[in-house]
Amino acid sequence: MNMPLRLGVNIDHVATIRNARGGIHPDPVDAAKLAVKAGADGITAHLREDRRHISDSDITRLCNEVDKPLNFEMAATDEMLEIALGHVPHAACIVPEKREERTTEGGLNVVSGHNRLMPYIDVLGKAGIRVSVFIEPDIGQLDGAKALGAPVVELHVGAYCDSTGGDQEREFARIVAAAAHAEEIGLECHAGHGLTFDTVAPVAAIPTIAELNIGHFLIGEAIFTGLENSIRSMRRLMDEARASSA
Ligand code: PXP
Repeated sequence: MNMPLRLGVNIDHVATIRNARGGIHPDPVDAAKLAVKAGADGITAHLREDRRHISDSDITRLCNEVDKPLNFEMAATDEMLEIALGHVPHAACIVPEKREERTTEGGLNVVSGHNRLMPYIDVLGKAGIRVSVFIEPDIGQLDGAKALGAPVVELHVGAYCDSTGGDQEREFARIVAAAAHAEEIGLECHAGHGLTFDTVAPVAAIPTIAELNIGHFLIGEAIFTGLENSIRSMRRLMDEARASSA
């Protein structure tokens, strides 16, 4: 029996479009409700320091109005910790954050950042929030996550999604090795960043990956086919790939 594969839909870029005009449309919370209807197992949202997309009130409303788990993406800062503790979402994913970046550009370095990250992971875990760290598919980083006591890792699969040919094969092999190592050392393994209809199946077929978090492509595809169709199609590709890996 295959381990089920959850889909977390990241609704940040619905807020990006809303904020382009400064009004209330399109509403990321309505998008989250539609995502749940279309097969999402949870909603992911990143409250960035500069609030370029998701706002504080979006987080409040996602907690109050959506009946699926919220995965709160956050930088390891005192401000974000306070917000997380105020809401106690189901999960928090610690991500690196630079003001000048367009999106999360790489994984967190949990080895060099051990001492700085430890108090955040400790406090979030003690509050009952399931903590993950967003890292590169790298054995040393996985061991670093384990040393921090994080129960979950999310593998940054952007390098695999953005490459082609032999480079993509090499990047994919790193993801396979990282997912196997996560299982060996007792970490739940998630993956995300850059996944599309073209790149999702091989990652979804890795049997020990428990969750994929996908956003930008789904919101972009929704322009052509609607959000519900775009999520349903992604869900189907994930489920077919997982079933074929039995
Ligand atoms: N997982 C994490 C930790 C992320 O930071 C992001 C991007 O915000 C995603 C998943 C989703 O990536 P994408 O929007 O490229 O699908």
